[in-house]
Amino acid sequence: MKKINVAIDGTSSSGKSTMAKALAKSVGYTYIDTGAMYRSVTLYCLRNGLISDGKVDVERLVALLPKISISFKIEGGKQATYLCGENVEREIRGLEVSNCVSLVAAIAEVRHAMVRLQQEMGKDKGVVMDGRDIGTVVLPDAEIKLFVTTSPEIRAKRRFDEMRAKGDTSVTLADIIANVKMRDHLDTTRKESPLRKANDAVEVDSGQFHTAEEQIAWAVNYFHDYMQKHQ
Ligand code: DC
Repeated sequence: MKKINVAIDGTSSSGKSTMAKALAKSVGYTYIDTGAMYRSVTLYCLRNGLISDGKVDVERLVALLPKISISFKIEGGKQATYLCGENVEREIRGLEVSNCVSLVAAIAEVRHAMVRLQQEMGKDKGVVMDGRDIGTVVLPDAEIKLFVTTSPEIRAKRRFDEMRAKGDTSVTLADIIANVKMRDHLDTTRKESPLRKANDAVEVDSGQFHTAEEQIAWAVNYFHDYMQKHQ
């Protein structure tokens, strides 16, 4: 059967990554986590002293961009992100990177380099790519485009529950709601490819699903429906 590309965009903590990952696994496609790529560049900046006082040394970063290689490998059934040959999967999810990634993802030159890489990864079809600008900029010709979001309160509660489950009691629900709203603001108002729904994307309110499994099942069904109609 002919392969297609699936673009999944949406707000943070909307469950889109879990959904994209599981959809790719279920249909035998490659999952590409573009957020992990921006996180990796951010880690590179932190390690090389390119961020200080909340500012990125853009000139130095642009000069170093050709040296930054990012790739994905499957290890033990799980996808791992590699930065210049090193597995950085754990480190890119840490607080330090999370706090600085919006800054780095707003830099035009960084975006251009990442978009080029992502387009290369999607050129042979058969990918499920998740991010903020996939349906609008990276893969505007993707056959399936989903835009996943729900209210800041529901998304914050999801993150709050995840943190509590890990034993983290350092922040309140109100703190997380404020953080989610701030990230939404940064993602949607930045000059370079802000988060927005592509005109031809299907909007998915993830608040309608009671569990992650329900959300995944919906996406898998949507994919098979599409394939059946477009054989
Ligand atoms: O999905 P995530 O939280 O791992 O994304 C990390 C950051 O990268 C977030 O601030 C949004 C940004 N991002 C982006 O600007 N474009 C993408 N295609 C993916 C992520």
